[in-house]
Amino acid sequence: MITTSLLWRGDNQHTLRALLPELAGRVRCVYLDPPYNTGAPRKGGEGGYADAMPRELWRAFMAERLGLCRALLSDEGSLWVQLDENELDTTKLLLDELFGRAQFIARITVEARAPSAFSTVNKGLFKASEYLLWYARDRQRLRFTPQRVPCERDRMYNLFVQNPEDPPAAWRLTRLQDAAAAQKLSVDALVLSAPERVARLASIHPVKAGRAILAAKARSIAAPDQVIVVPREGHPDQLVLRGQQLILYDKQVSVIDGQRTPSRPLTNIWTDIAWEGIAAEGGARYKEGKKPERLLRRVLQLCTDPGDWVLDPFMGSGTTPAVAAKMGRRFVGLEQGPVFEVAVARLERVLAGQDPTGVSRVEGYGGGGALEVRREPPTDHKGGMAGGGSSPA
Ligand SMILES: C[S@@+](CC[C@H](N)C(=O)[O-])C[C@H]1O[C@@H](n2cnc3c(N)ncnc32)[C@H](O)[C@@H]1O
Repeated sequence: MITTSLLWRGDNQHTLRALLPELAGRVRCVYLDPPYNTGAPRKGGEGGYADAMPRELWRAFMAERLGLCRALLSDEGSLWVQLDENELDTTKLLLDELFGRAQFIARITVEARAPSAFSTVNKGLFKASEYLLWYARDRQRLRFTPQRVPCERDRMYNLFVQNPEDPPAAWRLTRLQDAAAAQKLSVDALVLSAPERVARLASIHPVKAGRAILAAKARSIAAPDQVIVVPREGHPDQLVLRGQQLILYDKQVSVIDGQRTPSRPLTNIWTDIAWEGIAAEGGARYKEGKKPERLLRRVLQLCTDPGDWVLDPFMGSGTTPAVAAKMGRRFVGLEQGPVFEVAVARLERVLAGQDPTGVSRVEGYGGGGALEVRREPPTDHKGGMAGGGSSPA
């Protein structure tokens, strides 16, 4: 039974299979960042990896590995595959078959690069996006922690409660700007310091709204300056003012990375993760396909907890293990190429508390944790590759 985080060198067809007896049903998150099958004969030059396979071969290559990964997932676990458009559709169909369409959670578009002046002269559209496909082992039991992201302050919220200590029925409201001016604060600062006092009015739908709120609307039109409270069983009260619903801003301010900020729910379009500067992350140079630590952090925030097992069968420079370590997760990283040693050195620095880059600071991580490194393929496979679907070397 594996208890220590592990980096293992070899074709993942073999290492994944060898992990089954020890790790089957125990992994909370598998993140795969395979060769995208771009058609490049060798990505990253000397020491890189082949990235050109006939589609059917690539599909078989992935089908075998995805099947093994699925067997390693726990019932609450989920699997993510990162791709560009080359094999996105092939892989979606493959995952629908392997996991069942009901287990599809999301297809996420990630903004991965910004157009440069040079690129825009090419025919067609600049390729700014990459994609993540996310599937649950069992969506009823999926471990999922909703996330919010910072956003601009919603300027529709333009009212301020002057006397929040009183019950809502006795509230007096003023213009937000006037309240900020009276307190000699910027509007942004006032909103962040007291979002539970900031509000806006929204119309009440004459058909879709419930009976109680429609009755309150009718009463409110007769007494426009009074806040009318509509109690609801098991939900927060609804408030009505001037014939409209009074909505408070407090749910839209959250603490993200230690900062209070206006926020909105995370969607399936991620444009807020910087890719510039990732070459230096972890002190691990890997030109082809290295991913931002912030991206992996978000994936792990969504579907794992501290102590969980995280698996990356196409580990490259070790981004997933590094982020898992910084977030207190246990990890297994598999890689067949020479970049394996780059990942080992990276993880040694991380665990020694010598990597201040990437998500170290935001995770408050100063090192710690054990690591096993296996440089030999599983004993059954030392002599070469068995079975079909062997990998691009
Ligand atoms: C896109 S890169 C991963 C980059 C990684 N996410 C990072 O941030 O550095 C894909 C990696 O998969 C590795 N790879 C390809 N086929 C493999 C196989 N069959 N077994 C193990 N690793 C493989 C390649 O050597 C390459 O390092």
